[in-house]
Amino acid sequence: MSKVALVTGGIGGIGGIGLATVRRLAADKMKLVVADVSDKAERVTEELSSEGIDVALIHCDVGIEDDVKRTMDEVNHKYGRLDILINNAGIGNTEVKLTDLSIAEWQRVIDINLTGVFLGMKYGIPLLESSGGGAIVNVSSLLGFKGKKLMSAYNASKAGVITLTKNAALEFGRQNIRVNAVAPGVIDTPIVDGWREQEQKWKILSTANALRRIGTPLEVANAIRFLVSEESSYITGTTLMVDGGGLTF
Ligand SMILES: NC(=O)c1ccc[n+]([C@@H]2O[C@H](COP(=O)([O-])OP(=O)(O)OC[C@H]3O[C@@H](n4cnc5c(N)ncnc54)[C@H](O)[C@@H]3O)[C@@H](O)[C@H]2O)c1
Repeated sequence: MSKVALVTGGIGGIGGIGLATVRRLAADKMKLVVADVSDKAERVTEELSSEGIDVALIHCDVGIEDDVKRTMDEVNHKYGRLDILINNAGIGNTEVKLTDLSIAEWQRVIDINLTGVFLGMKYGIPLLESSGGGAIVNVSSLLGFKGKKLMSAYNASKAGVITLTKNAALEFGRQNIRVNAVAPGVIDTPIVDGWREQEQKWKILSTANALRRIGTPLEVANAIRFLVSEESSYITGTTLMVDGGGLTF
């Protein structure tokens, strides 16, 4: 029987980590469900279907509890199971000093990047449990490990994801559910377009790692694929750096 995998934020950014993950898991013959808010979602889903990928789209804002609950209900109704959950949806933040950071901007970033992961697990784990177990990968960031000026909300949200991953791994290991995270460094996706436009900054950011280059969405998708596969059957509660050595730099 094909596994059913749900990827949040799996469609919007053309060239995003979510879309690369959808293609990577589809290559393993999984049935894909994508939860996204993007206005490009329908068009990209049609393109994926025309490539022969078994994919369903659910409009879902991961920061809204009712949306996430409805998404899991729809997955249950359509497939009767869920085997793999990738909490990937995320946003950057407006770069301002902590003292200038509005509560509205703080809340917007925390709602999507951290509460979104919490809600995905809160409503996804019961489905994984009733399917006999499964695997979750939460997308954190190199910036969940180290500080970066003007990125307080993003840094805090991604650090929270690392700890939340450990909590879930501890609480649901006995139910045969493995929960891990990936921490990408600078990856070539639309989310870093703002940095790319600033020539000097981009030169520094894109080479601030041991490999001296930016990463690709496929390189992150490959790590995610490993963490949901049987090859990682004794790995849970961990965060895998996919940063070209950015943390050690
Ligand atoms: N690109 C990088 O350098 C980098 C580095 C570290 C971590 N990350 C993380 O990787 C993940 C994917 O980002 P990406 O780089 O592919 O960027 P992206 O902008 O291409 O993808 C983000 C996706 O999330 C979706 N999304 C945004 N808000 C949403 C919401 N409220 N509900 C549902 N979907 C929503 C977008 O439509 C899009 O499909 C994010 O969590 C991001 O923080 C990216």
